[in-house]
Amino acid sequence: MTPVKIAPSILAADFARLAEAVDMVNRSEAAMLHIDVMDGLFVPNITIGFPVIASLAKISAKPMDVHMMVTDPGRFVSQVRDAGADIMNVHVEACTHLHRVVQSIRTAGMRAAVTLNPATPVCMLEEIISDVDMVLVMSVNPGFGGQKFITSTIDKIKRLKALMDQSGASPLIEVDGGVNLTTAPDLVRAGADVLVAGSYVFNAPDPLQAIVNLANTKAS
Ligand code: DX5
Ligand code: ZN
Repeated sequence: MTPVKIAPSILAADFARLAEAVDMVNRSEAAMLHIDVMDGLFVPNITIGFPVIASLAKISAKPMDVHMMVTDPGRFVSQVRDAGADIMNVHVEACTHLHRVVQSIRTAGMRAAVTLNPATPVCMLEEIISDVDMVLVMSVNPGFGGQKFITSTIDKIKRLKALMDQSGASPLIEVDGGVNLTTAPDLVRAGADVLVAGSYVFNAPDPLQAIVNLANTKAS
């Protein structure tokens, strides 16, 4: 089993010290940097936008995984690309024409990821699973860091694996929300490839060590 990839979520960093947070992630074992964009409409919070992402891109040595918690994210494909994203993550619930959005993300030169809210069933991916590079399974309702992990996510990942087996598609499986050393082993066993972690990493006394610990998660 390949070791699980870690994507620290910058949302949990001190926004007055973002450069220090990116520097820590650069020096860490993290596979990518997770950036949460919120519009105050799709989710009840507003975080960061394109100018900040572009500044982070200048100093990030890791690929940038931009999680778009915005309504109709297809409007922003070129701005996300120009800001320096490597992966553009769009919510299934936010796209009327998901297939078109996924194609335009790839045409723009980024990897395309699609995200499922906790209440959105895996079957919503049936017609798109072969066209995406990653599926993000939300294990909390999006909008805020530090929420409690929703345990039914584990079975949902198993259903996603079954759909992948059926279709022959092999996108990475990413999980976001409430990930820590307690919740990670079940996620890895169920088939998660990428764990997003905000408060677990940035609230740790030693964030570099926290990333190592999470990356060494063994399936339970
Ligand atoms: C929540 C965001 C997450 C958030 C996770 O809507 O998508 O990326 O940063 O935070 P934790 O790891 O604290 O649950
Ligand atoms: Zn996120």
